[in-house]
Amino acid sequence: MININENFLKLQAGYLFPEIGRRVSAFAKANPDADIIKLGIGDVTEPLAPAVIEAMHDAVDEMSRIETFHGYDDSGRGYDFLIDAIIKNDYAPRGVKIEPSEVFISDGSKCDTGNFQEIFGIDNVVGVADPVYPVYVDTNVMAGRTGSADDKGRYGKIVYMPCTAQNDFVPELPTKDVDLIYLCFPNNPTGAVANKAQLAKWVEYAKEHKSIILFDAAYEAFISDPELPHSIYEIDGAKEVAVEFRSFSKTAGFTGVRCAFTIVPKKLKAYKADGSACEVNPIWARRHCTKFNGVSYITQKGAAAVYSPAGKKQIRQTIELYMSNAALICRGLSDLGYDVYGGVNAPYVWLKTPAGFGSWNFFDRVLEKAHVVGTPGAGFGAAGEGYLRLSAFNKTEKVKEAVKRFEQV
Ligand code: MLT
Repeated sequence: MININENFLKLQAGYLFPEIGRRVSAFAKANPDADIIKLGIGDVTEPLAPAVIEAMHDAVDEMSRIETFHGYDDSGRGYDFLIDAIIKNDYAPRGVKIEPSEVFISDGSKCDTGNFQEIFGIDNVVGVADPVYPVYVDTNVMAGRTGSADDKGRYGKIVYMPCTAQNDFVPELPTKDVDLIYLCFPNNPTGAVANKAQLAKWVEYAKEHKSIILFDAAYEAFISDPELPHSIYEIDGAKEVAVEFRSFSKTAGFTGVRCAFTIVPKKLKAYKADGSACEVNPIWARRHCTKFNGVSYITQKGAAAVYSPAGKKQIRQTIELYMSNAALICRGLSDLGYDVYGGVNAPYVWLKTPAGFGSWNFFDRVLEKAHVVGTPGAGFGAAGEGYLRLSAFNKTEKVKEAVKRFEQV
């Protein structure tokens, strides 16, 4: 008799975005004339940059000729041309020295942030912000590291670190010992960004507790404040305690193309039962190359073009367009009397629901009255209750129209 992995049965309802999709489809079916504006899932709407398209076309042509055809990427970790461009453009200008063997190209930060926990023991205590990107929690539930959920959807063995308006949505250090810490800045869903002093506290905590920080920086390209760190490695000592995840999805419109990368420093250590240290980098390399066969040559060529002078300029224009949408949402909704957070260094606006409305109630009301789709804050964790997330990824006209329609909510 085949047994199921019962950890999967501990997962809460469906994954958040399919559940939203289900409610929106039901609404659309019942209201076929409604012009629904989607500010829910953070999926990009602008096409790929011309420089990326050109590079991908060239790569397709290369694949058509015997002398320039590419099969498997032998290293399994990504092509040197992309790894070098990442090091030179994303890290060197910030004074961060990364070695090529510390970079792993992958097909997405969702997969990498979800998969990374696999290489750590099952008894590690996991700490997450609340609210949080659901992937960090759900993958630890699947692994059997969390216990069961209570009636608020909180898992007994996870340490939740509440992010509220009182702490500017940046979590305080936990009072319990945590081994594996997930941090995401700019934050999904709140749009908050930790400054260097705040990150330094986490690095210090991780060093003291021999913990590891999984730092999700998928939205770093949306930071406009020059004082804010884009990488956790801008903090002294972070290479000893942190893995960093970056993605081309939101930065360069690759949600449907799939390319991301993860930095696993050589200095990063985890510990064996006898207390002796072992390097994490070769273990991740082993796992990555065993379960993953690389991102296509065509995609990696497209990603490398993001760093060309034309590519940089083009993606910057698109990011500015999305951030001007975020500003429209913040301004428009503040004018209507809502409390809004985020939306300045991140493409997400975190909106406090009016008194008496829970997240899902307000989600339904906004859908019904304004035909606008947001994401209920409660879907990101108990501390997200009472908030709705609005994404800035849409056409400006649609965003303007959505904001206007909030007058009817
Ligand atoms: C979101 O809306 O939170 C993101 O699009 C999800 C993701 O990047 O996987």
